[in-house]
Amino acid sequence: GKVSQDELKRVAAHRAVEFVEPGMTLGLGTGSTAAHALDRLGDLLRAGALPGVAGVPTSLKTELHAARVGIPLLPLDAASGARIRLSIDGADEVDPDLNLVKGRGGSLLREKMIEGAGERFVVIVDESKLVPRLGCTGAVPVEVIPFGAPHTLGLVRKVFDGLPGFHARLRTVVDGDLGSAPFVTDNGNYIVEMFFEDGIRGDLQDISDRLLRITGVVEHGMFLGMATTVIVANKDGTVTFLH
Ligand code: A5P
Repeated sequence: GKVSQDELKRVAAHRAVEFVEPGMTLGLGTGSTAAHALDRLGDLLRAGALPGVAGVPTSLKTELHAARVGIPLLPLDAASGARIRLSIDGADEVDPDLNLVKGRGGSLLREKMIEGAGERFVVIVDESKLVPRLGCTGAVPVEVIPFGAPHTLGLVRKVFDGLPGFHARLRTVVDGDLGSAPFVTDNGNYIVEMFFEDGIRGDLQDISDRLLRITGVVEHGMFLGMATTVIVANKDGTVTFLH
């Protein structure tokens, strides 16, 4: 029979949760796939199967969800001794080198801080997220501070000056019937969305460096060399582990 995309997300999430051991501090991801992992973790915790497990949430939404299903929460604070052993999160795109685009849901800064601080980072996706190049299927988000956002947008555009098919804009939300307002992140920042005609063909690390050098850019949604494992749930019912 045909399996829904949501069912595939659930399958990948449950396989990732199998890596969780008692006593572990986890990085808790954000999005519809990571939500399945939160539900599964909550079930196992309530059943007493994972004593001592706690999580560091990557967004306000995940913080609320985790609290609702009974996952104890910790702040991101190495000094508190809560070493993050394993993070589990979805992604918008995964390239053949396991580089990711994340943050189309609006969370990327806390995700990158937490997943970058942890030891293992397991990414959970259905096969539709696998792409030949980052930026193939939609926006690559860049978090910018609200002050001077149109100016920062201009500087982001300059990084890709003359690249055919490239465009960038400030992410907006519909604001009642008054028109649109900037989308605001959990950190009170704005999001610049970059679009590439056929994905990013340049040196990703170089592009990352140039974006991060812009004063006003806080972080971007390219997660380079961070994933340690990608669990892919395929439409044919198989599950692939990429390392
Ligand atoms: C949240 O902003 C993102 O980084 C998510 O991890 C990403 O959008 C994947 O979400 P889905 O699992 O809902 O596709």
